[in-house]
Amino acid sequence: MKPALPVLPALAALLAAALTPSASQAAAANRPAPAVTRGAAFAAAHCAACHGITANSSSPNPEAPPWDDIVNRPGTTARTLVAFLTDAHNYPAAMDFTVDRRAIRNIAAYMFTLRKPGYKPTR
Ligand code: HEC
Repeated sequence: MKPALPVLPALAALLAAALTPSASQAAAANRPAPAVTRGAAFAAAHCAACHGITANSSSPNPEAPPWDDIVNRPGTTARTLVAFLTDAHNYPAAMDFTVDRRAIRNIAAYMFTLRKPGYKPTR
């Protein structure tokens, strides 16, 4: 009697083919949007010297609010955030620089990933 082994690789290939699309869809769903990734990189380069830019981090500059505090305030929306970042005159003197519109949208996209239900801003 011949063993059924030769069937196994074919079966494995079939299974892999059946599983692969959903596995890659799941990976795509977990991957952050490009704007979020770019916003995070921009923030790490230009904002992290003063602000806590990740969840539950404190700010190196105590005057600068941690970003999860900012985005979890009820008054913060994408609109208020983009407006603040667009109007250089609104910046505190410590932040006297301009950021281009695309970078602003990326930063805002990243910042809103820090919004969590039930988060209580510390200030
Ligand atoms: C040199 C320090 C410094 C850097 C760098 C800096 N900030 Fe700030 N930022 C501050 C301080 C200080 C405040 C708080 C000012 C105040 O409350 O009057 C602030 C406030 C803010 C606020 C408003 C917070 C609120 O209470 O509504 C936002 C939004 C913000 N910063 C975003 C950014 C972004 C985005 C970057 C990078 C592009 C950045 N900051 C870089 C010091 C800094």
